[in-house]
Amino acid sequence: MKILGLSFGRKNRNSDILVKEALLGAKEAGAEIAFLNMMDKQIGHCTGCAACDRRREKGGPSRCIIKDDFPFVEDAILEADGIIVAAPVYVLGPIGQYKNLVDRMGPSHDRSQMERENAKRIAQGKTGEELLDPRLFKDRFLGMISVGGARTENWTSMGLPNMHLFSFSMQMNVVDHYNAYRMGDIVNPLFDDELLARMRQMGRSVAESIGTPRLEAEWKGDKPGICPLCHNDLLTIKTGTTVECPICGMEGTLSIEDGQIKATFTEEQIERSRQRQGGVDDHMDEIASFGPIVQAKLAESGHLLPEKMKRFDGIRELDKKDFVENMKQ
Ligand SMILES: Cc1cc2nc3c(=O)[nH]c(=O)nc-3n(C[C@H](O)[C@H](O)[C@H](O)COP(=O)(O)O)c2cc1C
Repeated sequence: MKILGLSFGRKNRNSDILVKEALLGAKEAGAEIAFLNMMDKQIGHCTGCAACDRRREKGGPSRCIIKDDFPFVEDAILEADGIIVAAPVYVLGPIGQYKNLVDRMGPSHDRSQMERENAKRIAQGKTGEELLDPRLFKDRFLGMISVGGARTENWTSMGLPNMHLFSFSMQMNVVDHYNAYRMGDIVNPLFDDELLARMRQMGRSVAESIGTPRLEAEWKGDKPGICPLCHNDLLTIKTGTTVECPICGMEGTLSIEDGQIKATFTEEQIERSRQRQGGVDDHMDEIASFGPIVQAKLAESGHLLPEKMKRFDGIRELDKKDFVENMKQ
C-alpha cells in the first residue's frame, strides 16, 4: 500500500512537518510512503477548455493538456492508495494553489463519468490500453490537515471544510481531518509532542483504512461534526427548518435537543449527496441533459448572438501595456 503526503506549505515549515510526521505513522503501519511539496510546483488554474472531455470522448485518456507540473502530481496521486494532505490557511480558506489542483482533478477525474466511459468502451469490445487508466477506479482514503497561524479556530473557519473539495471527483473517502491552528503560538510543530502524536495517528488511520471498501471505512476524526458524511460543522440555512451541508450537498432537518443544535439527514438524502454514487450520477445526468438543450437553443437563436454581443462594444478590456507605461511616468 502506497501513501502520498502532499504539503502545500513552505518547504520544511508547518505543513511539511505535519505531513511528514503523519507519513511516519503510515510507515509504522506498513505503508510505502512518498512526499511532495507543492509550493514550488507549477499548477496553473483550469481554463475550462474542456480538452480533457474531448480527448476522453474520442476514446483517448481523460487528461489535461496544460503543460505544467500537473501530470507529475496527478501521476503521484493516481499511484497512491492513501493521501495525507496539508494546506495552509490563507485568508480563512486553503491556499489558492490547492483549489487549482482541486479544479484540475475535477471533471477530468470524475469517477462516475469515468465508470460510464469505461463501460461504454468495454461494450464496444475495447480492452487494455484502449480503456481508461485503471488507477482512476481505486478506492482511496484521505487524511486532511488544515494549517493556520491564528490562536483561535475563528480565523481558520473555511480551511478544513474547503479542503474536502479534493475528495469528490474521485470519490475518495476522508477518514480523518484535523485543524492545526495556533501555529503562531506553537512556533514549530516539532515542539508539540501531542500534535506530532496526533499526526502519526492520522497516518496510521489512513494506512489501516486501505483495503476496506470505500464506504465502509470508519471515521477516525476527533469529533463527529454536524454532517455525518464530511464531519464538518458547516450548515446552510434554507427555508423553515431545512438545512444543507454545503460540502456534501445534502438537505437535512435542523432541531434543538437538550440545548444542542442537531441536523438529521435521512438515508434517502444521504444517497443523493455528492459523497454517494446516486448523487454524482444525478449530477452526471444533469450535465448530459444540457447537451440537447444547448444544441436546440443555439440552432434556433445562435445566429442572433453576434448582434446581441454588440451591446458590450463600448467596454474595452484594460491593457497591461498601458499599466506598465503608467508606472514609468
Ligand atoms: C497570505 C497569507 C494569509 C494568511 N491568512 C491566514 C488566516 O486567515 N488564518 C490563519 O490562521 N493563518 C493565516 N496565515 C498564516 C498561515 O496559515 C501560517 O503561517 C501557516 O503556518 C503557513 O503554513 P506553512 O508553515 O506550512 O507554510 C496566512 C498567511 C499568509 C501568507
